[in-house]
Amino acid sequence: MKNHIPLLEKLFDKNYQLIDGTDEIFELDLALWEYEILSKKELVERSAYFKLVDGKETAHYKTCNLQNLEEVHKNSSFRTKIFFLDGKYSTGYATHSLFPYRGKFHPQLIRALLNILDIKPGHIVLDPMAGSSTVAVEANLLGIDAISVDLSPFCELMGKVKTFTLNLDIKILESIIKNPKEILDKLKKDKVPEYFKNNKDDKKRNYYEIILLAFLDTVGFAGRSSSSVDKLFPRVLDRYVSTIKYFQKARQKMDLKIGKSKIIQGSVLNLPLGDNSVDAVITSPPYSFAIDYLKNDQPQLEYLGHDLEVLRQEMIGLQGRGVENKLEIYFDKMNQALGEMKRVSKKNAPVVIIIGTNDIQTNGVRLETKVIELGEKQGLKFELNLKKPIRGLQNTMKEESILFFTNQK
Ligand SMILES: C[S@@+](CC[C@H](N)C(=O)[O-])C[C@H]1O[C@@H](n2cnc3c(N)ncnc32)[C@H](O)[C@@H]1O
Repeated sequence: MKNHIPLLEKLFDKNYQLIDGTDEIFELDLALWEYEILSKKELVERSAYFKLVDGKETAHYKTCNLQNLEEVHKNSSFRTKIFFLDGKYSTGYATHSLFPYRGKFHPQLIRALLNILDIKPGHIVLDPMAGSSTVAVEANLLGIDAISVDLSPFCELMGKVKTFTLNLDIKILESIIKNPKEILDKLKKDKVPEYFKNNKDDKKRNYYEIILLAFLDTVGFAGRSSSSVDKLFPRVLDRYVSTIKYFQKARQKMDLKIGKSKIIQGSVLNLPLGDNSVDAVITSPPYSFAIDYLKNDQPQLEYLGHDLEVLRQEMIGLQGRGVENKLEIYFDKMNQALGEMKRVSKKNAPVVIIIGTNDIQTNGVRLETKVIELGEKQGLKFELNLKKPIRGLQNTMKEESILFFTNQK
């Protein structure tokens, strides 16, 4: 008993304190990695998992506290409130919470990866299957420029809103949302609002997109609850505006320099980017056919006027009949995707792929094993597989792999 030194004291000097809730082994591993390669100053400015360094609060910890999430969620249901407050330092900060996208990255994990991979302002990081653009938001928060590509036009909208709202003029937003009822009537009447088709260069367009996302969020929310869009929309819009407002206050107080993002609707199978144009790739493909991303976002995509069947042809994980055939097509597409990641990233650039296997769906075929094999064939040198558990009783998938590669060109 007497001689035992607790694990955290063995790992970190007593002047370093981790953010509450950093308790998974993979998180400690990443925190240790940050601790090993970042200077004290860098840890204070950009670390994902530290709260205090030599008594100084880190930027991440301060930003989360300044956001006043209690106030933002004052009208949310008890469940939503608890969810966001529990994830105050890990999932619900900055603009990540604007649309609760299924299957999104843990933002803190991305922050740690950017640190570990030594991606800094001046670099460009790409997520070619970006979903809700978690990578772009995290990169921008650290002053790094980012490119998001996703096949889904709804993901494009989410990415644009989540990155634009990191740095905007809150007064313009407030002046636009003065009458939520009028906005709601217009959004309902116009279906795909004429405005979005006709005003591609309007400076206010990005502000209207925030309202459109809040509306589409409400449509999904109303579908899952017993309440109507009319009743829920003002509440959802209010949550969006206060999330943005409190983050803006925190950003100004902290003097955070926000990076730029380019959000593109396109395919990872044929990236609209030049050779050797990005410094790092961090991405997570569909885990074979575990989630039908088009079905998930069907109401939103249909509202925006898109043909799901056309998108389905190109979407990874949604073609084929029977497990064997589906997997064959899946790996063929993943092979092309890895080839594209190699083409657009620079020599020695890190390429990180986060992927999990649902053994029951794939009859035991491990996706990560095959992705390592395909990556190596493409000339991406495999470096490390860091395992991350998936919690929750309902999940049949128990862990994900964080696969690190280096582009050898
Ligand atoms: C696991 S999700 C990514 C979630 C994301 N990491 C986040 O934090 O929100 C996989 C994404 O791959 C996209 N996708 C599937 N096929 C694609 C393709 N051919 N080109 C680009 N994106 C594709 C899907 O639309 C989906 O958003």
